[in-house]
Amino acid sequence: MQGIADSFYLCGMQKTNVAIFASGTGSNAVNLIRHFADHSSIDVAFVLSNKEDADVLTSARELGITTFYRSNDDVADAEVLMVLCREMKIDGIVLAGYLRKVPEQFIQNFEGKIINLHPSLLPKFGGKGMYGSHVHKAVIESGEEESGITIHYVNEAFDEGRIIAQFHCSLDEGETVESLAGKIKWLEHSYFPTVIERTLMQ
Ligand code: GRF
Repeated sequence: MQGIADSFYLCGMQKTNVAIFASGTGSNAVNLIRHFADHSSIDVAFVLSNKEDADVLTSARELGITTFYRSNDDVADAEVLMVLCREMKIDGIVLAGYLRKVPEQFIQNFEGKIINLHPSLLPKFGGKGMYGSHVHKAVIESGEEESGITIHYVNEAFDEGRIIAQFHCSLDEGETVESLAGKIKWLEHSYFPTVIERTLMQ
């Protein structure tokens, strides 16, 4: 029997091409690559990193994904990113642990098409310096009863773009940075792929 994916191809529709920008380990990038492998309508076209030796590049290559390294100077230049995305026919960009600011002109060019993942319930614990374990440490030290993840559009202000979705987890007694990081990672891996799917397919 002909499935939805087959009909999609038969209709001659183009898939939505997604680029992932990441700077570090890339567990979310890997999770997304796996989720979208053989997907009927979304393709991960490439992974870009501003760190030449980032683990995410090795992992992506092992999964058969094209990778690009661009220096910090290059990724600060909107034209460099636009040329690459144009050549690769990119429709949407996902930031998954990407630690550089995205140039304004690039954001304007892809307005409503750049999605970021943040490991707290924004607007709390966002902004400069709020990444990785710094976020979890600040959450615990503030005596919060819950934390979570925010998936949002990227605009010119760090972590301030329109929120697409948030997922919560509670903080237990004796919560540590490590235990909270585990809860957050679980939320990210469970929900990020489907939210991207929903958002980019709108
Ligand atoms: C994630 O916690 C994400 O929220 C933040 O950066 C981290 C990346 O983790 N923006 P990983 O490299 O995907 O494991």
